[in-house]
Amino acid sequence: MKKSGHEHFKTKLGFIAAAAGSAIGLANIWRFPYLAAQNGGAVFIFTYIIFLFLLGIPILITEISIGRHGQTSVDGALYKITHKKTWKQIGKIQILTGFLISSFYSVVAGWILGYLVESFLGNISHQASFQSAEAQFQTFLATPTWTLSYHLIFIVLCAYVLLGGVKKGIEWVSKSLIPLLFLLFVFLTIMGLANLDDPKQLDFLFTPDWSKLTPRALLLALGQAFFTLSLGQGTMITYGGYLKKKENVVGSCVYIAGFDLLAAILSILTIFSIAGVNEALTHSGPGLIFSVLPVAFSRIVGGNLFAILFFVLVAIAALTSQISAMEPLICYLQEQKKWTRKASTWFCALGAFIIGIPSALSFSLFKHVTLFNQTFFDLLSFVTLNFMVPLGGFVACILAGYVWGPKNVLKELEMHMHLSPISQKLYAIYFKAIWKFIAPVLIIFILLDAFNIF
Ligand code: PHE
Repeated sequence: MKKSGHEHFKTKLGFIAAAAGSAIGLANIWRFPYLAAQNGGAVFIFTYIIFLFLLGIPILITEISIGRHGQTSVDGALYKITHKKTWKQIGKIQILTGFLISSFYSVVAGWILGYLVESFLGNISHQASFQSAEAQFQTFLATPTWTLSYHLIFIVLCAYVLLGGVKKGIEWVSKSLIPLLFLLFVFLTIMGLANLDDPKQLDFLFTPDWSKLTPRALLLALGQAFFTLSLGQGTMITYGGYLKKKENVVGSCVYIAGFDLLAAILSILTIFSIAGVNEALTHSGPGLIFSVLPVAFSRIVGGNLFAILFFVLVAIAALTSQISAMEPLICYLQEQKKWTRKASTWFCALGAFIIGIPSALSFSLFKHVTLFNQTFFDLLSFVTLNFMVPLGGFVACILAGYVWGPKNVLKELEMHMHLSPISQKLYAIYFKAIWKFIAPVLIIFILLDAFNIF
């Protein structure tokens, strides 16, 4: 039964661009480089790639298949498979997770937008030391009008794209901006490498020292492989629902994960080569792009232009991720509540803005308002990213492995693929093992880690 009004991506390329745009975000550019720096470089990158195959890519394929099968919002797609009200509720929790993430993701994206504007004004590239750059960053965060207005501007920008709908909004923007994003990446990497005194300094990123493989690094790589592909919170199920039945899911997912990995590697190269390897390693942490890069921009010739291009790149990455975090709720309101696209979009945008306010103020006015010793921003990001998102992935595996059943999922997956009997067998073994055992067990580790068990 095809619902009237349910939109589809126009082309497979448009779908890949949209899903890759969702995947490539702050996790790749802001988080991955400092995690890799703190956890042994190449070892971290290699384990991350292994987890992409054991967890990230198969769950991505599963979520897209669930969506494509359902051709509706997340709750509807889960209900269509199970015919159980409980699964409808599980779907709604995933939609809520995406919405909550969008509320604070937009706050951090707002900082990026703020840094972009400040770079245009020439205010970023004259920081003589890490300390002064860090002080400048803290001053911005401590200014409520600064954080709130960029949070608002960013949400309005996203709403503007989302009002265009699937084809003319999400697909068009992704198809136009993702190639630009890669172009900027390549340009900045080349310029960065040209500026590096000794490119050999980057060797530690490509030659693994296995003695650096700690349980902590393993867990961080595991969580990163999960979050970077936008799993567990309705995005990929919703985007899968906009995919026509005739498209090959597995092939597209390999491209999406491939682009995401490429973006992660390019981020490391760009940031480490611009910042200088030693500086990046000494000060690696969440402030890497806000406090270390400005010092580098101040030192190199044409630094201000670099700063502008860099923050344009990150803003694009954040925009295409943010719209994908908001879309599950918009899709739900349209399909289940029969709201118009316009009403659904503004409702979601306004809601994300309002719920984002205490997150934005967590670094100024509400700095001392804490629960369990955490600010609102810390608490909301902790609960969503460490519990709700892994649980979302867990239920997708349980659904595929035990409820819908591997046979049926594989039938959905293999539609329009022409597999030889032997590859069909291998496929079945790989996916069955992942859905039934490997992924659920790995996700339980992520969840236990959230309780500080290790
Ligand atoms: N994948 C995004 C990133 O790497 C994060 C994200 C998760 C965005 C979920 C939207 C939804 O930054």
